[in-house]
Amino acid sequence: TAPVRVGILGMGTVGQGTVRVLQRNADEIRRRVGRELRICHAAVRKPERLHGLELDARVSADPWAVVRDPDIDVVVEVMGGIDPARALTLAALESGKHVVTANKALLALHGNEIFAAAQARGLMVAFEAAVAGAIPIVKTIREGLAGNRIQSLMGIINGTSNYILTQMYRESWDFERALAAAQELGYAEADPSLDVDGGDAAHKITLMASVAFGIPVDFAHCHVEGIRHLQRQDVAFAAELGYRIKLLGITRRCDDGVELRVHPTLIPASHLLASVEGPFNAILVHSDAAGQSICYGRGAGGDPTASAVVADLVDVARTMTADPSNRVPHLAFQADALTALPL
Ligand code: HSE
Repeated sequence: TAPVRVGILGMGTVGQGTVRVLQRNADEIRRRVGRELRICHAAVRKPERLHGLELDARVSADPWAVVRDPDIDVVVEVMGGIDPARALTLAALESGKHVVTANKALLALHGNEIFAAAQARGLMVAFEAAVAGAIPIVKTIREGLAGNRIQSLMGIINGTSNYILTQMYRESWDFERALAAAQELGYAEADPSLDVDGGDAAHKITLMASVAFGIPVDFAHCHVEGIRHLQRQDVAFAAELGYRIKLLGITRRCDDGVELRVHPTLIPASHLLASVEGPFNAILVHSDAAGQSICYGRGAGGDPTASAVVADLVDVARTMTADPSNRVPHLAFQADALTALPL
């Protein structure tokens, strides 16, 4: 059978990771999917940064060339940012291409428009890589816990902040030194204020709430507070009292709506989430039948995020041959759903 023809927008940390994972595991993936996942066209802004990566594909400087390429089935958006990512994503859908994206900011701000555009055409927008890196939390909620009524999600969902807090606690580093190291290690966003001011975690908890509760994406109703103002003394005092400081994203079903918030939180040192250190993420899910579940893994970095991108490509490849009316949307809003509570 013919390969699934993939176009990729962006060849930074995650784009390069995706190429590496697809190359390294090509045989296994082909056996699992029954078809090859082949990157046929890549938009690369800075080819000098490819560091010898072997890319057997057409390369364009202009991302529109990929989106308009009639020989592409799926577009992978790993360029980040809102403009031009929003226009490119909508144009890909308009031209009948499925989309796999790691862009949490885009989906948190424009997800309703993008998911509606996909649904109107029976196309898929898969976004596992947008939330918690390698951790299959979207698939866990959509599939693994599909029989449950979910009550709440609570998690460490920004690897950069968690790495910084860990280094402040374990090594007594100050905030600036820890942030510089997180950038060096490839965990931080291009604009690291998204990490340390809580915006990135807020994007992710907003998306997870939509998956868990079927509510429209409503970033404006998320309370956001980051870790920039924390000093290592705060972390040390908390430890003396038997606590860790963690940046948590929390969403909870209430009687009158869904709560969305991100803020630094004191948690007892004996709590499961207290032992999540470095760039790792973990999400605790409370649901009625399963009770408490925890998902743990690498939340940032090239290969871990690529792991989720490729999983979504596999998902799309398996479903794309189905009749469009039988494709399961990656996010479907429930008409009678609760909405996010005002701040
Ligand atoms: N900057 C993000 C983080 C990358 O630190 O978690 C993964 O989304």
